[in-house]
Amino acid sequence: MHPSHLPSPIARGLIAAPRVITCDPHRPDPLGVVENGAVLIEGGHVVAVDHLHTLRSSGAPVVLHGQGVLTPGLVDAHTHAAWVGSRHDEYRIRMAGGDYEAIARAGGGIRSTMRSVREIPQKELERQLWCRLRRMLSQGVTTIEVKSGYGLDEANERKQLLAIRYAGTAPELPRVVPTYLALHAVPPEFEGQRTTYAAAVLPWLRAIAQEGLAQFVDAYVDRSAFSVDEAEPALRMARELGLGVRLHAGQFADIGACELAARVGASSADHLEHVGPAAIEALAGAGVAAVMLPVASFTLGQAPPPVGALRKAGIPLVVASDANPGTAPTESLPLAMALAARLYGLSPTECLLGATRLAAESLGLTGVAGILAPGASADLVLWELPHEDALVQPWGPPPVEAVVLRGVRVY
Ligand code: NIG
Ligand code: FE
Repeated sequence: MHPSHLPSPIARGLIAAPRVITCDPHRPDPLGVVENGAVLIEGGHVVAVDHLHTLRSSGAPVVLHGQGVLTPGLVDAHTHAAWVGSRHDEYRIRMAGGDYEAIARAGGGIRSTMRSVREIPQKELERQLWCRLRRMLSQGVTTIEVKSGYGLDEANERKQLLAIRYAGTAPELPRVVPTYLALHAVPPEFEGQRTTYAAAVLPWLRAIAQEGLAQFVDAYVDRSAFSVDEAEPALRMARELGLGVRLHAGQFADIGACELAARVGASSADHLEHVGPAAIEALAGAGVAAVMLPVASFTLGQAPPPVGALRKAGIPLVVASDANPGTAPTESLPLAMALAARLYGLSPTECLLGATRLAAESLGLTGVAGILAPGASADLVLWELPHEDALVQPWGPPPVEAVVLRGVRVY
């Protein structure tokens, strides 16, 4: 879409709804609900949130009046959205009892998607990412973290990150937070040399950071992926270069990834289906957020993470889609919220906070995204729902009435 075809921004106006869910922690209730509320937006930002009758005195026109619930735009804090190709053949095998890790060992899995990504020209990768992010926007997502990790060599990781950067500059797409997934799988040219590969990415990481192509660095630290010792140098380098760290941790086994996340000052540890008490203590002590990825545990047939212990430790619970062609072939954060409620036992309030404010905070966007409060970006979703608790029902296409992104009604 050419920017000139974008609807014009709402210069100054009120967006009103019977239930405005601010997710503002300064309000007394967990979701910061304002009944018969309105949000005054101006110049792409939120200026005030209050009862509609109070804000009417501002003289600003009511530009949108929903009949249901108004929330901040959703924030998807963990996606591999820059993928191409399809792994439906593996999915069929896995649903019939095949094992994800065994498929990967045999050269499928992440390396199958690597082949698709290496083959595709930059422009076509950009086009497909654009289409995917538009579909995600239509489900209420206005901020999205996108990882590389399917190139597995410098040129193709850069290709993915350049496509992600292109998406990040498009005004008609959600706000994009780019992550260099430096250690995802060992490419065929380093077969049998995992430790050598883990060192080979260091100069790529330096160049990527210097070019501003990533805000975070991620690594898949698990029994059939990279060890703590292999991942630590890249993560330390990331921090020295001013980047944040997010980790794939404890998806299949607790090999100390959470303690590593805590040591390097990671922003989040993601998956966590297999983590013990020491791991949870480490996350809590270092203020690392826990990113719940229930679509992945759903397709892998796994038991949930120890949600009760994470909650008791006071760790922020984020909910994300994990959108990827293998473990979470979905584009839907609302689906992840539904599964977080059903499979993980998160309350509707936890699901909503985990897909808005807490997700934004884990991405370094505190006060900018995932919240309706003065100064925040004017990213809002009107839902045709009588109550916010209905958002965690398994809708399929969620009942989105309108999406406003940076003050522009984009959907
Ligand atoms: O988050 N397990 C590691 N990474 C992804 C899956 C990637 C893939 O299978 O393509 C995940 O589950
Ligand atoms: Fe992932």
